Amino acid sequence: MYFIANWKMFGGLNSLNSLNKVVNFFKGFKEKKTTKIIYCPPSTLILPMSKKLKSSGIDVGAQNCHQNENYGAFTGSINSKMLKNVGAKYVIIGHSENRSSGETNEIINIKIRSALKSGLKVIFCIGETLKEKRKKNTKQILNIQIKKGLDKIKNKKNIIIAYEPVWAIGSGIIPKSNELFKIIEFIKKKNKVFKILYGGSVNSKNIRDLKSISIIDGFLIGGSSQDSKKFIDIIKKTYN
Ligand code: PGA
Repeated sequence: MYFIANWKMFGGLNSLNSLNKVVNFFKGFKEKKTTKIIYCPPSTLILPMSKKLKSSGIDVGAQNCHQNENYGAFTGSINSKMLKNVGAKYVIIGHSENRSSGETNEIINIKIRSALKSGLKVIFCIGETLKEKRKKNTKQILNIQIKKGLDKIKNKKNIIIAYEPVWAIGSGIIPKSNELFKIIEFIKKKNKVFKILYGGSVNSKNIRDLKSISIIDGFLIGGSSQDSKKFIDIIKKTYN
């Protein structure tokens, strides 16, 4: 099972202290072999976090990258090669918080290709808005996002899909279990090779319901991942 912490735009150097708890927990965790923990902090923390988590078995990822795989005159941007250079092994691409500020499926496709080329694994986010859900367009939207996002990518073994309904992110609301099962099943059937994660308001209370959906391969966790205790709780409860 994957547990990916998306810290979003939160955290400074002092936030790294909170990782001690998670490192200690993971050291003695009986399900360690089948558990993959990945922290995606803001870019400013990738290097110090990678150093801190070295030999802990916990990996570090980035939250986004620029689409250009080479250096260039793009003020304020960071590309996948630069992220890899400071210790990132993964990168989240296509998060709805970036889609909503103009990131198209086409840009996402270029980003994914450049990230794979740089040797990063990709956490590819897809999900429908509330409006699209109400119109019963979910499957159609997911299809387009997957088709365009993964266009011309033959080798998909380093891609994980995170299904994150936009209306579930940060809202405290999660999809109904039967609906979520059907959507994950739908994505899996179309793309047999992928691991599929769920993301959106995952917390230590609703994890009991979510974990019962056996075809989910893990979780992308925002708010609840910033507090180590809550994050550990989610991991523990997934297994018992
Ligand atoms: P949330 O965020 O857990 O705070 O809803 C999830 C995400 O945006 O990846």
